[in-house]
Amino acid sequence: MTVPGFIEARRSIRAFTDNTVPRDRIDAWIEAACTAPAPHHSRPWRFVVVEQEESRRALADGMGRAWQTDLERDGLAATRVDQLVAASHRKIERAPALVLGCLTWDGLDRYPDEHRQRAEHGMALLSLGAAVENFMLACAADGYASCWVAAPIFCPPAARDALDLPPDWLPHAMVVLGEPDPDYVGRPRPPVPLDDLRRFV
Ligand SMILES: Cc1cc2nc3c(=O)[nH]c(=O)nc-3n(C[C@H](O)[C@H](O)[C@H](O)COP(=O)(O)O)c2cc1C
Repeated sequence: MTVPGFIEARRSIRAFTDNTVPRDRIDAWIEAACTAPAPHHSRPWRFVVVEQEESRRALADGMGRAWQTDLERDGLAATRVDQLVAASHRKIERAPALVLGCLTWDGLDRYPDEHRQRAEHGMALLSLGAAVENFMLACAADGYASCWVAAPIFCPPAARDALDLPPDWLPHAMVVLGEPDPDYVGRPRPPVPLDDLRRFV
């Protein structure tokens, strides 16, 4: 195996024990997140630890409404929409800890034209991904389990407003985490088909 062990060890784990996650560990993982590379020596990231029951519910409701609207527009049957939204509620409400990774424009450049402004946003989003990966690696190194959940990237303003966050804190990533349920079995990780996905030029 050529992948470093601490990278290989992080898996997406979607089931946890009921034990809580100490705040000081979450803070340590956020510090690890903040060592990620970012454009212009910026740190255009904010992290929101959603602890309180009413905040969890507000987040689930806010993102759930946005998702419901999208799914109904897709023409999905109402019963299926209800099932999906309810499952998402459970995921948000039951996780021992939940952290949102938000993007701000802090330290980024602004351009008068759309294509460079979009590229700047893309750079910031890439760096948020690096920060979230660092967070999850640090979490795994401490023996905790985590799973990235895509939901907020589809509705950043709804997630922000549900939690009354500052206007420029836009949630794009959600990580649920906790002590791993010892019975959880993840999917096997497929081998890396290097010859298909890498080219030396
Ligand atoms: C941007 C992003 C969004 C993801 N969204 C979800 C999600 O909504 N639900 C989920 O169960 N896993 C989600 N995942 C986790 C992936 O399914 C997981 O990383 C992938 O299957 C590889 O498994 P591994 O992380 O155990 O290596 C997401 C991962 C990324 C990077």
